[in-house]
Amino acid sequence: METQKTEQLNRGEFLRSLGMSSAALMAFYCMGTLTSCSKGSSDPTPSTGTGTGTGTGTLDLTASGNSALKTEGGYVYNGSMIVARVKGGSYVALSKACTHQGTNVQYRLSQNDFYCPNHGSEFSTTGAVEVGPAGTPLTVYKTTLSSDGNTLTITT
Ligand code: FES
Repeated sequence: METQKTEQLNRGEFLRSLGMSSAALMAFYCMGTLTSCSKGSSDPTPSTGTGTGTGTGTLDLTASGNSALKTEGGYVYNGSMIVARVKGGSYVALSKACTHQGTNVQYRLSQNDFYCPNHGSEFSTTGAVEVGPAGTPLTVYKTTLSSDGNTLTITT
């Protein structure tokens, strides 16, 4: 009897501690993967860009609206695309709408991929689907950096 009581108590405590630790785990998870929590939502700076419908054209990297692109891991939305300065410092431009249901994807430096916060699809830096539910790749655009490093030209 004594043992049973102790066991019940322990289980109660165990469950309580589980409840607490899942919240703690979430906090830990967010700290460990900044890009999927706080960073992802604060990073996008609306691009001033060239304002063309698709986002093709030139992007002035000295414009304040594009300052996120000065830093590896930064990204902006430009027309219908997302432009990111990916791991290693090069620029990648992809269609920003997740091919599942159209949510804007986000670049994650820690994983070097593009992530959809809606249902968790993941795309490589070439736009290929790495994790569904999305079934088709993002459109990839060509990017060319000017020799002075101030202008990014984006073409289809
Ligand atoms: S909208 Fe992107 S995974 Fe569903």
